[in-house]
Amino acid sequence: MSGELSPIDKAKFVAAKRATDFVEDGMRVGLGTGSTAAWMVKCLGERVRKEGLKITGVPTSTRTADLARSLGIKVVSLEEAKWLDLTIDGADEIDGDLNLIKGGGGAHLQEKVVATASDRMVVIADAAKEVETLGAFPLPIEVIRFGWRTTQALVEEMLISMDVLGRDVTLRMQGDAPFISDEGNHILDLHLNRIGNPRELALVLNQVPGVVENGLFIDICDTVVIGHGDGRIETR
Ligand code: 5RP
Repeated sequence: MSGELSPIDKAKFVAAKRATDFVEDGMRVGLGTGSTAAWMVKCLGERVRKEGLKITGVPTSTRTADLARSLGIKVVSLEEAKWLDLTIDGADEIDGDLNLIKGGGGAHLQEKVVATASDRMVVIADAAKEVETLGAFPLPIEVIRFGWRTTQALVEEMLISMDVLGRDVTLRMQGDAPFISDEGNHILDLHLNRIGNPRELALVLNQVPGVVENGLFIDICDTVVIGHGDGRIETR
């Protein structure tokens, strides 16, 4: 399945494959979104096909749902599954406390709901995602379309009041049009450079009217599986 991969894809693949070892017969599994999560779904699909593994998957995006179904994985909604044994997902940044920035793929709202409804969240990533301090990757926040410019202005004011250094807030685009999430919302990307207090920022951002959810995952991730381009894997 992995064929001849570039070092970055190899790193993502080995992390994804190792994480599927956590999946046991009968489990209800949250399926993340993104290129690393797509490898994980493919590895699970292979186990379903070759070993007859029986799992129920709850996807975190229409992209992942389509992929999982195409590979023969049983897919249900979170309403049907209610609670999950495990969620496996990628991340854009991971700090030393296993706090994350997610949402580079615009799916962090469903990803956070699904991960929070799971006994365990396992994050899979290539080594470049590990950082000392979160914030070099733009922090996504999902906002409702109604009055999004006002929400943007309120978020900018809030960043000034919190003395956050980078305050550039941009509307995510897809081609010439604003990006629309699976939930029908826009995404604002916060270019902060450095997030001194991610826990506080996560709480404050969600208090701004119009903000649905931010991409900071604080105390949600339990385990991280890091892949390297030479095939090495580290778990912490
Ligand atoms: C999507 C996400 C992804 O998990 C994150 O962007 C990492 O993606 P990739 O595995 O492609 O680097 O949060 O909303």
